[in-house]
Amino acid sequence: MSVYQATASAPVNIACIKYWGKRDTKLILPTNSSLSVTLDQDHLRSTTTSRADPSFEKDRLWLNGQEEEIKEGGRLATCIKEVKRLRREVEEKNPNEPKLSTYAVHIASKNNFPTAAGLASSASGFAALVSSLAALYALPASPSQLSLIARQGSGSACRSLFGGYVAWEMGSSPDGSDSLAIEVAPQSHWPDIHALICVVSDDKKGTSSTSGMQRTVETSTLLQHRIKHVVPERMKAIKEAILVRDFDSFARITMQDSNQFHAVALDTDPPIFYMNDVSRSIIALIVEYNRVSIENGGKIKAAYTYDAGPNAVIYAPKENLKEIISLIVKYFPQAEPFKDPFGLFGAQGVGSGAVVPGFNEAVAKPFPVGAVKGLIHSKVGDGPRVLSPQEALLGANGLPK
Ligand code: DP6
Repeated sequence: MSVYQATASAPVNIACIKYWGKRDTKLILPTNSSLSVTLDQDHLRSTTTSRADPSFEKDRLWLNGQEEEIKEGGRLATCIKEVKRLRREVEEKNPNEPKLSTYAVHIASKNNFPTAAGLASSASGFAALVSSLAALYALPASPSQLSLIARQGSGSACRSLFGGYVAWEMGSSPDGSDSLAIEVAPQSHWPDIHALICVVSDDKKGTSSTSGMQRTVETSTLLQHRIKHVVPERMKAIKEAILVRDFDSFARITMQDSNQFHAVALDTDPPIFYMNDVSRSIIALIVEYNRVSIENGGKIKAAYTYDAGPNAVIYAPKENLKEIISLIVKYFPQAEPFKDPFGLFGAQGVGSGAVVPGFNEAVAKPFPVGAVKGLIHSKVGDGPRVLSPQEALLGANGLPK
């Protein structure tokens, strides 16, 4: 008897132009377009195995080994239903194809990073789910077509269907058929953009993106200005910057847009604060690091950006990462030795950190160990990958291994 099963992995993406606000909460249609960089799956990824079998009684899903309920009409159910619909189209065109769309599916998914790291896993998670189902069903669908489905799992997930530099075009159709991800440039176009994720410790339960952005849509007047006048210009400008590999413009726009996203969060009633003192100190360090460079006739060397939480993501050309990591480690001493995936620091390790000549050390106070509880060094990466059967998360019995 045939086994119908496929495994895929998908990357995390971090936005430079932020998605914040929905015009349709069910279809997940945004109030503005957004743009992100896809990060390397060798560092952060979700992996998902899907299997269809006539003996399965119902669709079931396990996340990191725990079974999750697939709520009727919920985001998971919608994604599964939509991929099955595309499979049915294939079966109607080719009557010899097995009727996989009529079978229930078992889905097992895991992230290689702990949920406690405070990194959003919904983007890579839904992208991996849709990619594994598309592989299982041998769908002749493009990444943009699959992004229409991943979008209905979590908005930002649509951008994880591509590697490199990715735009989510908001579209205008009420049915959402033109609200999809497109590749602005592949990873190979500008491979030397690196990312340093500073995992900031945070005890309080933050406001989720989903509920936070709806409150912003309902109450913020600044958001209206942002979506009408600011984002359309920025989308154009950052795409151009990417196409000509202009880090200076890319960085300016990225930092401005992070700032404005947090400004509209503050403009929400009641206000939402995602950044904390550690986040703000990292901004001060990057601003000073760039100031020193510009004052010496150089260019911007790093860009910070923050999502709906206190973690910083610092984008920079590869050649600046050693200085940036040294700087962060000086102000935010690490309990664990820095994992150095690109071998920047050799046998000595990162040590106790250092600043570049001319740096005004008074722009921030050094924090105790644990304020930044981890540093993840990554870079721009590729899109979803279909993996070999050896990497399956489901055993021969169709249950998680
Ligand atoms: C701040 O995609 O998590 O990270 O569509 O409700 O699932 P839902 O929201 P989500 O929001 C992400 C918001 C953001 C900005 C971004 O990634 O563009």
